[in-house]
Amino acid sequence: MKTILIATQKPFAKIAVSQMKQIAEDKGYKVVLFEKYAEQSDFEKAVTDCDAIIIRSDLATKEVFDAAKNLKIIVRAGAGFDNIDLAAATAHNVVAMNTPGQNSNAVAELVFGMMISAARNGYDGKDGVELRGKKLGIHAYGNVGRYVAEIAKGFGMSVYAFDPFVAKEKMQAEGVTPVSSVEELYSTCQYVSLHIPATAQTKKSINFGLLNTMPQGAVLVNTARKEVIDEDGILKMMENRADFKYLSDIAPDCAHVFAEKYEGKYFFTPKKMGAQTAEANINAGIAAVNQIIDFFETGNVNFKVNK
Ligand code: 3PG
Repeated sequence: MKTILIATQKPFAKIAVSQMKQIAEDKGYKVVLFEKYAEQSDFEKAVTDCDAIIIRSDLATKEVFDAAKNLKIIVRAGAGFDNIDLAAATAHNVVAMNTPGQNSNAVAELVFGMMISAARNGYDGKDGVELRGKKLGIHAYGNVGRYVAEIAKGFGMSVYAFDPFVAKEKMQAEGVTPVSSVEELYSTCQYVSLHIPATAQTKKSINFGLLNTMPQGAVLVNTARKEVIDEDGILKMMENRADFKYLSDIAPDCAHVFAEKYEGKYFFTPKKMGAQTAEANINAGIAAVNQIIDFFETGNVNFKVNK
């Protein structure tokens, strides 16, 4: 009997776990739950006997792959797989997958939760602003970006997007105005919502030069990764632009500076919350289980992300 380890420092909703277990057990797989672990070394110890692993933002390091002697497949139940050492997975002959699109709506809804709260000054009783009529720039028009666009249109916002990998006609067909460069997106839009992955090219790419071109009342919403922000740049932006607000699903490393100097100008979730809904957990968790079963039963590697 093959064993699937669900290793989640930040656990899935209980209802998601029970549905994942049911599907796996019905197909003859054993499921081992390993949640809320304290140390990375505990994760390394937990993987010794499993054939498959499901993770979220958990760090699948070289040490994890070294320790997981029976491992054939690891699935990141979510979109971003920057937490997996892909070279180590490949070196160990392990297939690494993600479950794109499954938690996207949850992330998009958080974008609006944070934008509305900031527009109303955290509901402090002072006059705020409205989203209707404002320009929203979507930086990367993937699964989350498309949901953000859909919701934004309901709010009466004008929606722009930059994504060199998506045809302009597709954006236009969805009521989104495509722009030709990152620079054009930021200089056009008062609100920018970030949906780029953290890669060697994108890390620290959101810098002062780019942000400072944003119109007055600028708001940057980051539900992507903290690593894509140039933290010196964003601190300079906070210092130079009293109108600027930064909203992020997970605090930057320099969060203490924000706390000391910029109260009311930022919001950070205490723990990454974008995908933390029952629906997103069910969708991504079940997709992960099904992809593992399909891989073992038929060899399907559709969602493979390593070479
Ligand atoms: C993703 O990449 O899918 C999101 O960042 C969600 O991450 P999480 O599963 O750790 O909440």
